[in-house]
Amino acid sequence: MKEYLILLAQAYPQFRQAELESLAELHDIQVDLSHHNESKPFLKIKLENDEQAKKLISRAILAKAIFEIWGEGEDYESVHKQIKITCQDKIKKYERSSFKFQFEGFKGRQTNSAQRDTIESFSYLDFKGKIDLKHPEEVFTVLEDYEVFNQEKAQKPEYIWFGREIGLSERSKNKVVEVYDLKKRGYIGTTSFEAELSLVTCNLAQVKPGNIVYDPFAGTGSFLVTAAHFGGLTIGSDIDVRMLNGKNGSSNIKTNFKDYGVYPQFLDVLTMDFTHNALRENFTIDTIICDPPYGVREGLRVLGARDEAKAAGRENNIVDGEIAYLRRDFVAPKKPYQLADMLKDILQFASERLPVGGKLAFWMPTADDEFQETVLPQHAKLKLEYNLVQQFHKWSRRLLVYVKMDESYVGETRNGMKDLNIKNFRDRYFKGFSYRSK
Ligand SMILES: C[S@@+](CC[C@H](N)C(=O)[O-])C[C@H]1O[C@@H](n2cnc3c(N)ncnc32)[C@H](O)[C@@H]1O
Repeated sequence: MKEYLILLAQAYPQFRQAELESLAELHDIQVDLSHHNESKPFLKIKLENDEQAKKLISRAILAKAIFEIWGEGEDYESVHKQIKITCQDKIKKYERSSFKFQFEGFKGRQTNSAQRDTIESFSYLDFKGKIDLKHPEEVFTVLEDYEVFNQEKAQKPEYIWFGREIGLSERSKNKVVEVYDLKKRGYIGTTSFEAELSLVTCNLAQVKPGNIVYDPFAGTGSFLVTAAHFGGLTIGSDIDVRMLNGKNGSSNIKTNFKDYGVYPQFLDVLTMDFTHNALRENFTIDTIICDPPYGVREGLRVLGARDEAKAAGRENNIVDGEIAYLRRDFVAPKKPYQLADMLKDILQFASERLPVGGKLAFWMPTADDEFQETVLPQHAKLKLEYNLVQQFHKWSRRLLVYVKMDESYVGETRNGMKDLNIKNFRDRYFKGFSYRSK
């Protein structure tokens, strides 16, 4: 086993380890990530070889790069000593490669002239290859961890690594967080889900090239485009046709796909109430990703009438000689629905439609003062793999990732919100969580 250092993004630290774990599983890589520290962007791990390192990092959104560690220590003296003792073979191997040096600092950085001195201190490596700042064959990186950002104290890092860059992540290589940034997207709406966490959601759901990915609450299609980025063949549905049609026909989900160059990954979007799902039962769905409606920016409604008896009386209404509900301009009545019931429906649907090993990933809001583990919905055929929390003021959004289990698995079925009598996230949200549900 060889030692590697991952440089993590300084974003969503609570999601970073899970993302790497999920990617390791996706690529069938055994790795211990338990030394991850949310307050630091450095993670030392052991892997079999560089190929594994490249694979592990290549799709990552919350990691930047991975390095083969040549030396490390609390001061440069220790780093140099270690390199001289342990890296003679490596030094020989890269002796004639073109190369460059670069610096990565956490909570501090060296001045340009100090960096030049530091590079000089590595002169014993005696590399004979050409220095190439644009397209070097090898990139040697000095990574420094400064404890506090304070001009005086930050002059000396508390820990240093020196390594050879093995691979860059999707975040660094293709700048995907910027590419999919909502501010630059042609068609967005109030419900659009931010790019970075949409991409992370796809990694946690292990969207693979050629997978059929379904978002039952597609809205403006944020998860569809990011799933397409990872090669998913995407299909979406939404009860609100206006979401799918977009603005004046000029920008919509389809034009977003075209703008991002992922149009071949677009299967279709359709207007449909999730609770009256029309996708044929044997239509294969490999992955389900969504942000279900919880009523804050959009209504949670399903087809049906509040007053069934009254609606039944109108069933055979005739308009201009035609049965009303058969006319193209018929607007089907809708009734309010509970988030708890919708979550139960999503789990049931996933348990029936996903293949064994298929993933369901969705976001669920919870009020902090009412949260307990048992509020999370469960289904006997789905195993909850991740419950990752994004904290807001007095409430949180949780990314829940489930995997469909085989016949031998018998888990618990639980409609947590209903069991705990939590009905009104929307009301509590708008009233600043000033009262409790019960
Ligand atoms: C939180 S938004 C999802 C937004 C989406 N992720 C996006 O990027 O815009 C929830 C969506 O669910 C839709 N919705 C509400 N009730 C629905 C139902 N019964 N069936 C299908 N979609 C529904 C809403 O119209 C809304 O677009």
